[in-house]
Amino acid sequence: MMPQSRFIAAVDPVIARAREMQKMTYDPAKEGEVKAPNYVGWDAEIDGDFKKLSVGAIKGGRPYEKICDSALDLIGFTPMVRMSRFAKFFDVECELLSKVELFNAGGSVKDRIAKRMVEEAEKSGRIKPGDILIEATSGNTGVGLCLVSAIKGYKQIICLPQKMSGEKVNTMKCLGAEILRTPTEAAWDAEDSHIFLSARLAKDLGGHVLDQYKNAGNPLAHYDGTAEEIAEQCEGKLDYMIMSTGTGGTMTGVAKKLKELIPGVQVVGVDPYGSILAEPAHVNDKSNRTGQEKLSAYQVEGIGYDFIPTVLDREVVDHWVKTDDDEAFAMCRAIVRHEGLLIGGSCGSTVAGAYRFIKENKIGKDKRCAVLLADSSRNYMSKFMDD
Ligand SMILES: Cc1ncc(COP(=O)(O)O)c(C=O)c1O
Repeated sequence: MMPQSRFIAAVDPVIARAREMQKMTYDPAKEGEVKAPNYVGWDAEIDGDFKKLSVGAIKGGRPYEKICDSALDLIGFTPMVRMSRFAKFFDVECELLSKVELFNAGGSVKDRIAKRMVEEAEKSGRIKPGDILIEATSGNTGVGLCLVSAIKGYKQIICLPQKMSGEKVNTMKCLGAEILRTPTEAAWDAEDSHIFLSARLAKDLGGHVLDQYKNAGNPLAHYDGTAEEIAEQCEGKLDYMIMSTGTGGTMTGVAKKLKELIPGVQVVGVDPYGSILAEPAHVNDKSNRTGQEKLSAYQVEGIGYDFIPTVLDREVVDHWVKTDDDEAFAMCRAIVRHEGLLIGGSCGSTVAGAYRFIKENKIGKDKRCAVLLADSSRNYMSKFMDD
């Protein structure tokens, strides 16, 4: 057997310093001024970047006939699946389709933005392999970035609220990243939040926050990629596209492109009670059924926020639906059980929202609805997948 000492590696001084800073409360006298970014919803600046950086439809598909260069080739070009068994069980009359993002290399829709944000930053000369990348995330962007960093050779630090699953943490650690946890209850701009910690670390360590909340590469990955795929897979026939919203990058990018390609398509946003992303503002106040209030903690991961990310253009959303935790997790289990699709927690919110929208608006036989299923059961084996 190898001697034990062979396996004890010295801690990288950058990581040692990051760990030390996570334990220290922010002290402006020592660290200088650090501010959380000013997220304002979609504005002229991001609109300009978005238009400038679009590369048009990303072509290529899954290269299954050839050997891939790396797992980066396994991001995007995900399948669409008919949810006809689920629809039959729940007495849904319209055609129900799903865009199944768990088939991305890292297991979620966020692999797309991780790849795109890194590629854009490399193209502009902002980063090069060996640099330190730091990101505040609810986990899936983290997994995507850790995967891209592992392949391309970046040092990756992830700032992650405590609520997010241990499965995501283990995945990111195995990909070589350092994970620093922050309190779930911290407001987004509080000095103990994951967003604030990422800003402190970037300043102290000379790292780069690509910042999914305001990086045009986030909605662009969906505008040039996800939406083009959906339009092609649906052969231009789609009446309703239903998506959950976290940063809003998926919503903004998919909705903008689908509205260009498929005239008349309506976009439905799903937002959990507790979050304030839905409009008009009063719909966020409280769930009449469960009593879940605005800005109170909820369990579903990856969607909903207490601020409006810059990459979220709420103008593109035609209808909002609010959902509760209990219906989301029940829906997850129903999707797994009836469709054999091993999807994650936010997919339950999306489908619960879709179901309510379809029933309340009596969307019938001649209509086609699609939902975007963002991630995989792998992230939640100890959570809603565990009885
Ligand atoms: C599980 C899950 N679902 C949905 C989303 C929402 O995606 P977006 O940030 O593009 O709104 C995320 C984002 O992290 C997520 O992790």
